[in-house]
Amino acid sequence: VDSADQAGELIASEIIAVITAKPDAVLGLATGSTPLPVYRALAARRDEVDLSRVSAFALDEYVGLPVSHPESYRSVITRDVVEPLGLDPRRVHVPNGSLDTIQHAGADYEAAIEAAGGVDLQILGIGTDGHIGFNEPGSSFASRTRVKTLTMQTRRDNARFFDSIDDVPMHCITQGLGTISRARHLVLLAFGEGKAHAVAGAVEGPLTASLPGSALQLHERATVLVDEAAASQLQ
Ligand code: F6R
Repeated sequence: VDSADQAGELIASEIIAVITAKPDAVLGLATGSTPLPVYRALAARRDEVDLSRVSAFALDEYVGLPVSHPESYRSVITRDVVEPLGLDPRRVHVPNGSLDTIQHAGADYEAAIEAAGGVDLQILGIGTDGHIGFNEPGSSFASRTRVKTLTMQTRRDNARFFDSIDDVPMHCITQGLGTISRARHLVLLAFGEGKAHAVAGAVEGPLTASLPGSALQLHERATVLVDEAAASQLQ
């Protein structure tokens, strides 16, 4: 694509088509900077489709960060997706990163996705280290929603959302690669030079837990949208 905004328009059209065909569609949401053009494009076109029966599942959440914190993924999803799109907040799920329920939060989340009938379209970004969701290098392709430790690289990358890197939580709860792979359509977006290495590894590299995005190669229906810079290391 020429730009992130063009990708946003394309994916918004696809999402509208999915919801038109299936009014109770289940969307998989990513956080971070990458999917914002999709959410903006959808918000601008929200009158084209009835979103009242749509449900959604976020990929991940920080562990131990209060949900009221402006950078908790619950807050981010509310601000960037639920409010601008006018989704029913009761149908929008984010893994629960509270310490007091963390033992069963992964299994609970898996059960909720299952009960909703699975994800129809999953939006994905990719980390500079090749992570999808917060499945850092070394994550099993069969993994399900569970607690992971964030790599130093990811904490550094995400420090821009916090006052300092020390404020970036060390742990997260994330859908596993196995969970993500069950979505019926995966849409990976990546923009900018910083993503070029991860994109090349995900699309053309060997299948390896060292580059979790390579799990996409096993999926029957995976779409990758990149700008020129993010595509620059593809052969
Ligand atoms: C966040 C997530 C992560 C991000 C990745 C890229 O929910 O799933 O995999 O997509 O860290 O982040 P950005 O888009 O900020 O470059």
